[in-house]
This record gives sequence, C-alpha cells and structure tokens, in this order.
Amino acid sequence: MSWREDAKRRAALEAAKKVKDGYIIGLGSGSTVAYAIRELGRRIREENLKILGVPSSYKTFLLAVKCGVPLTTLNEHPLLSLDIDGADQIDDDLNLIKGMGGALTREKIVAAASEKLIIVADETKLTSSLGRGQLLPVEVLPFALPLVADKIRRIGGKPRLRERKDGSGPYVTDNGNFILDVDFGVIEDPMDLESRLKRIPGIIETGLFIGVADEVFIGTQSGVKILKRKM
Ligand code: 5RP
Repeated sequence: MSWREDAKRRAALEAAKKVKDGYIIGLGSGSTVAYAIRELGRRIREENLKILGVPSSYKTFLLAVKCGVPLTTLNEHPLLSLDIDGADQIDDDLNLIKGMGGALTREKIVAAASEKLIIVADETKLTSSLGRGQLLPVEVLPFALPLVADKIRRIGGKPRLRERKDGSGPYVTDNGNFILDVDFGVIEDPMDLESRLKRIPGIIETGLFIGVADEVFIGTQSGVKILKRKM
C-alpha cells in the first residue's frame, strides 16, 4: 500500500472509532470514506455495533450493502448523529472543495442533516487557499447548461463539462444532472463566490462547503492529525 493509501486508511479508521451504538450515520463518498465504511461493517460483525447509515451516493449505497451496514433514509431519520465524508481540498478554516467524485449535492444535504461532520483525508488535500490547483465542481441542470456556463464565465470562471471516463458523453450524476468543473484560480472569498453561484438559475449545488466541517482527520506519513474548526 502506498503511503497515501495508508494515510487515508488511518484517518478513516480513526474517524470510525467515533461512531457509537444507536448512531444514525451519514456515509460520504470517495475512496477515503470507503475505508471507514468497511471498518463500520467490521465493527457491526465483530463488535455487534448497532447503527444505521444514510448513503450520499449510489456507489456508497452499494458499498454499504456489501459491508453489511444497515441503511435508512432522511424520510425515516431526518436528523443524523454524525456524517463522515472525504474532501478534495481543505483550507486553514476547514472550508472545503468537494465533488470530484460527483456526489456533492447529496453530500451537502447529508452534511446539513448531521449534528457533526468529520472529514477524512490524507495530507495532500490541505491548502492555504481553496482553488489553488483545484477545479470547483458545480452540479448543473442539463437544460440550463449553456446559460450556466455563460454566467460562470462572466464571474471569472473557466467551466469545463465533465466527461465520462470512457469518453462516451457527459458524466451524469446520481440526480441526472451534469457537472461543470470550473477553474476560478485561487478563491479569495469562498462565501462570496458561493452566494454568486447560488444565484444562477440552473445551478443545483456547488462543491464549496463553507463552515460545515467540524473536525478534519488528516492522515499523515506517520499518523493522524485532528484539526478542529475554530468557533
Ligand atoms: C465526492 C467527494 C469525495 O469526498 C472527494 O472527491 C474525496 O474523494 P477521495 O477520498 O477519493 O479523495 O467529494 O463527491
């Protein structure tokens, strides 16, 4: 295993220790949180841990089923005890860019339903400024694509329609929408950019997660560092 995979795994396993009997857990998406989901499956089997999970993507749903993590919905449990998720970039204030895995909208909803959000990542995800060397994923209603792309250009972004890996057409989210990966360069004021983007009709959600993460578990080359949001 590469040091990065090892770091991701260590961070995820540390976060999985925070899960207690009776918790309703938000299950994020991505390769780092997948280690936490497998660990929760192990704890359910070996420690008789009693939890229910709400998956944030179809991929996570399938993994949770495979690992034996019992699932529920926001209809049955609109309030979650804890959400564990990954991130693509994390700044000093624990603001995030998420969505390179395409699940940003459901991830943001699950995070908003949770009393606490723990992010798990390896140390390569840390940055002094969001947007430095990182595109911002934005989920867009297909009907509105040309309008949204134009409006994004007008506020200084360079949008690129995400393609499927096999080149067979646009990538389609679990919600039936498209993703624009937008180059904004360094994002000086993430909150301002978020409110400008949210005013564009046709944008379903952005990958900016501002003031949402409570703790970030960072897997380093030698251990796990826990960062807490300043109140
Ligand atoms: C998916 C996400 C993921 O959490 C993010 O892309 C991190 O993934 P990974 O742990 O594989 O690096 O936001 O929409």
